[in-house]
Amino acid sequence: MSVTVRVPAKVNVQLAVGAARADGFHDLANVFLAVGLHDEVTVTPADELRVTCEGPDADQVPLDRTNLAARAAGALAERRGIEPAVHIHIAKDIPVAGGMAGGSADGAGALLACNTLWQAGASRAELLAICAELGSDVPFSLVGGAALGTGRGERLTTLEVGGTFHWVFAMAERGLSTPAVFREFDRLAEGLDIPEPVASQELLGALAKGDPDALAAAVSNDLQPAALSLFPELADTLAAGRTAGALAALVSGSGPTTAFLVRDAESAVKVAEALGSSGTCRKVRTASAPAPGATVLSA
Ligand code: C5P
Repeated sequence: MSVTVRVPAKVNVQLAVGAARADGFHDLANVFLAVGLHDEVTVTPADELRVTCEGPDADQVPLDRTNLAARAAGALAERRGIEPAVHIHIAKDIPVAGGMAGGSADGAGALLACNTLWQAGASRAELLAICAELGSDVPFSLVGGAALGTGRGERLTTLEVGGTFHWVFAMAERGLSTPAVFREFDRLAEGLDIPEPVASQELLGALAKGDPDALAAAVSNDLQPAALSLFPELADTLAAGRTAGALAALVSGSGPTTAFLVRDAESAVKVAEALGSSGTCRKVRTASAPAPGATVLSA
């Protein structure tokens, strides 16, 4: 008796960041796009809460109560007054500490899996509320597709996507911590007048039309200067992808994964090969978007 949930990674096609709030978070206009790289989270009844992980970067995943999947199971169990007596196994394919919401994906996946296993009956709204408590990006991992996140990124409005977008992702030699990147954003922003973050109408129109050229012209990431400041070598990866023919090259979220929008699947293979032999990254993956949100595969 076990439940497996498949959950996608994300790329931020726009990440507009406002000034630091009193609570330390930043108001965002965060346009999420779910991409076809997935983790699979399997939950099985057990004597006590336990997390295991397999996959190429599994050794970098914390297996204690700080793991978002463990926290998700704990949060749902607490609401139902039961013990989170479950073994959570994560088959990890999303890069760890990469700016692609891998940890958030595992949180959303474990939550949906436990809700199914325990027949806990949480509605979509309750699941989304628990996701928002777990982290700013977790609600989007549940929902998938494309969405505009406002507030700290957790308040979602679903967006229309009119076609398939092809992407190449380059994984970096080391990770970057999201809080550290936001702190660097604050340091670089000192003394500057930071405007309210707003979604770009050009970008939303490009998504709705499924037009890769228009999307390439509109993508932006306000965290990119901070990520490059902490990890200057990423500029070489971005340049290598542009030279190879990517329509757009940007840091994914807080990084350090870099994302390359390309015209079609054929171009994705070409850009991936060029990046792979450029010596500027650890690993390269291709994926298309949008991908569906957390989905129960087997129960
Ligand atoms: O919400 P989450 O736990 O994923 O956020 C991780 C960290 O990223 C926060 O502790 C904060 O430093 C930073 N953050 C932020 N503003 C946001 C989202 C995240 O400053 N809107």
